[in-house]
Amino acid sequence: MARIAYVNGNYRPISEAAINVEDRGFQFSDGIYEVCFVVDGRLWDAPGHFRRWRYSLAELKMRSPMGERAMRVVINRLLRVNRLSTALVYMQATRGVAPRNHAFPAEAIAPSFVVTANPFDFAAAEGVAQKGVGVTTAPDIRWARVDIKTISLLPNVLAKDAARRQNAVEAWLHKDGLVTEGAASNAWIIDQNGSLITHPLGGGILGGITRERTLACAAALGLHVEERPFTLEEAFKAREAFITAATMLVMPVISIDGKPVGTGTPGPVATALRRAYIDQCRAENSNS
Ligand SMILES: Cc1ncc(COP(=O)(O)O)c(C=O)c1O
Repeated sequence: MARIAYVNGNYRPISEAAINVEDRGFQFSDGIYEVCFVVDGRLWDAPGHFRRWRYSLAELKMRSPMGERAMRVVINRLLRVNRLSTALVYMQATRGVAPRNHAFPAEAIAPSFVVTANPFDFAAAEGVAQKGVGVTTAPDIRWARVDIKTISLLPNVLAKDAARRQNAVEAWLHKDGLVTEGAASNAWIIDQNGSLITHPLGGGILGGITRERTLACAAALGLHVEERPFTLEEAFKAREAFITAATMLVMPVISIDGKPVGTGTPGPVATALRRAYIDQCRAENSNS
């Protein structure tokens, strides 16, 4: 069955789904996106993802292509036509189509809106989490507004590619010796005292929606949390490490630049947080 995408009001096979060549997303990366995890037809952490969608749009002075309720209708229909119930849903809005000019038109133009859904193998992901993943490190060369979830991702793409070449799944970005976050995830360590440490909000990172719930899970588990930047040196000495993102939930990290973290196997805290995360989301979505 051909995969179907939603593009500006139409549901089309991916190969036929197209965007105007003068779309500002295509020419300037002038747009934003969200990725949501869907399990059994339910969007996990939906309020957080819609809140950040509105925030990103507002920061770029963009209009939303439609309201949340209409977006949910599109997502549900897209899942139905693709016969998917457990999936990753990608939503992207760009400022729209206009003759190429850096400054966008003074009068509002219609934003472009694209949604795709890809199957997600939950059991396979659990298998990966049981083994853990490796990360590499790379200088954080991104712009200063990484708190906005823009489609302008070239530094992230290059860092991920370098990671992949070293058989790692993620790159931890660092600035002035401090780890900011992953190329597509938030970065966490557990130090030798058992403190859970992750970079604070307020500049330097994207406020991950998975990060937010992980903090709530950590509080529920009674963990000591420090929201502060940590150094590369602390990362190499950590007892445990993990990453969080909608695409991976809580994923244990077992090596950094090829050096084992702790015992070189998924740690008990990361494993407990992953379990707590999944249990909380399942419970929230089972009776709503
Ligand atoms: C740079 C960056 N940081 C953090 C995250 C994690 O965000 P979330 O948990 O909302 O998926 C992402 C997700 O794509 C990301 O690209």
